[in-house]
Amino acid sequence: MKAITQTLGEIVSQAFESAGYDANLGVVTASDRLDLCQFQCNGAFAAAKQYHKAPFIVAEQVAEILKKNDIFSGVEVAKPGFLNLTLNDSYLLKQANTIAADPNLGIPQAEQPSTIVLDYGGPNVAKPLHIGHLRSAIIGESIKRIARAAGHRVIGDIHLGDWGLQIGLVITELQARYPDWRCFAADFDPEADQVEPLNAAMLNEVYPFASKKSKTDEEYAKKAHQATYELQNGRPGYIALWKEILRTSIEDMKGNYEKLGVTFDLWYGESNADRYVPRLMDILAEKNLLVESDGALIVEVAEPEDKAPMPPVIVRKSDHSSIYATTDLATIIQREEDFHPDKIWYVVDNRQGLHFTQVFRCAKKAGLVPAQTEFEFLGFGTMNGADGKPYKTRDGGIMKLEDMIATVTAGAQEKLEASSFVDEEDYQDIARKVGVAAIKFGDLINQRAKDYVFDLSKFFSFEGKTGTYLLYTITRINSILKKAGVPVDQPLSLTGVYTDSERELLLKILMGGDVFQRALSEKAPNYLCENAYQLANLFSKFYHDNHIIDEPNDAKKQSWLALIALVRQVLCKHLDLLGIETVEHM
Ligand code: ARG
Repeated sequence: MKAITQTLGEIVSQAFESAGYDANLGVVTASDRLDLCQFQCNGAFAAAKQYHKAPFIVAEQVAEILKKNDIFSGVEVAKPGFLNLTLNDSYLLKQANTIAADPNLGIPQAEQPSTIVLDYGGPNVAKPLHIGHLRSAIIGESIKRIARAAGHRVIGDIHLGDWGLQIGLVITELQARYPDWRCFAADFDPEADQVEPLNAAMLNEVYPFASKKSKTDEEYAKKAHQATYELQNGRPGYIALWKEILRTSIEDMKGNYEKLGVTFDLWYGESNADRYVPRLMDILAEKNLLVESDGALIVEVAEPEDKAPMPPVIVRKSDHSSIYATTDLATIIQREEDFHPDKIWYVVDNRQGLHFTQVFRCAKKAGLVPAQTEFEFLGFGTMNGADGKPYKTRDGGIMKLEDMIATVTAGAQEKLEASSFVDEEDYQDIARKVGVAAIKFGDLINQRAKDYVFDLSKFFSFEGKTGTYLLYTITRINSILKKAGVPVDQPLSLTGVYTDSERELLLKILMGGDVFQRALSEKAPNYLCENAYQLANLFSKFYHDNHIIDEPNDAKKQSWLALIALVRQVLCKHLDLLGIETVEHM
């Protein structure tokens, strides 16, 4: 299905053409003055310039043609040349019924689906999964779902930080504590020797300890660098231990991401790109892009039109260790080889913007991908505490994701009436969903690139722009439908428009395709949050004004039930695109 402004735009374009003007002038937008009209077209102004006529005359001519079309109940020209359009109720109903029966629920499908690699999540193995990585997971998951809903092929890759100094630190600390482990012996034999099993709690304690120590103990830091170097150069005992670290850490992460409703197609990490580094270096050398600088190898990526200084990319440090940029470049080779993506999108903290500009430029210069492949950095802002600084726990530490999920589940439990649940398991499950919805919606409602204040008490409010309010609205519709004995997931037929608030609801539903397209083109889930909120609000108004269940006129009642069933479907779809699970009751 096309977005409504497109459908109307085609009709108005044809009218411009029939009146003897350029068809491109017929662009239609939603009106922001619903008291005047539902849609508008301002093409007469551009036409006036192009054809040296008064805009009012042009608009009048186009309006004459549009008036013959019975989808409009109103076609008016407002001075000095605005075209104001209002749709007939029967057309509103027809469109709403088409949406209800559409498996995509009115979401416009891409004419040429793209293959998109989406790099998001990006947690670091061995480090506790903390909320710094929460935004990437939440935003990335939503963008993935949005792009898929339009028919694109999206491959979500977590791109684990699994190959850096943090592993060297953990190895160093474990070696200090357990010098007798076989994996530390010079003659470790991967075929015959076993590695001691680790667990998440242990890693969560060891990494912060080692990281802290390395900041004050130079000797220790050196050891960690050496361990990283030996690991990256294939020391068998370290490789075996690293695999165990990876296994433990990933298992722990998977549990947490699952609770958040975040899933990845690929669990690749920086280490998977390692085997592409030699090829990367060859390509860079072949293209004469490598420059030696103080023993390191760099690639210049500055361009004459740069307004800010653009440092070169360091692809190999003087100690020959490869670094973040090298890994990202090698990963691009891997992705090109595996998927030939049309686009590669990165959902990463804004503070890494420069890094990605450098990487993208270097990749293009080196021809790692075809010229038309699009790279896009989808940066996000910081999650702040009430003090405006990056969110910390009460004792000043970094909040672990696991603790965050537990906190929001407990917060939701406080809000929910224990008596309305069948059993403890049901209660726990719903509390988690409500809690996760609160943080996800609280995050996604903000413009992606902006910082925001993480405020749980606000996120849990049953009123206003919150996940809680939306889940609650859906449960209200569920109970009305249940009371009326109407099945929730079959499209029902809308047959009439009886009140203004219904008309507004229908219009909102019709506009869904436009909102979706905007969210996709700007990779901005916040438009869907805003729209879901407005839809829920219109529903509340409609529900408040009309007694659906007690309505004596059966035709009216049935149509209203069909309407709220459609509202429910559309709301659920919005939440699904945001990666938020809904609940049956709460
Ligand atoms: N692991 C990185 C970090 O914690 C984020 C990875 C982002 N993705 C990428 N391709 N570099 O900062």
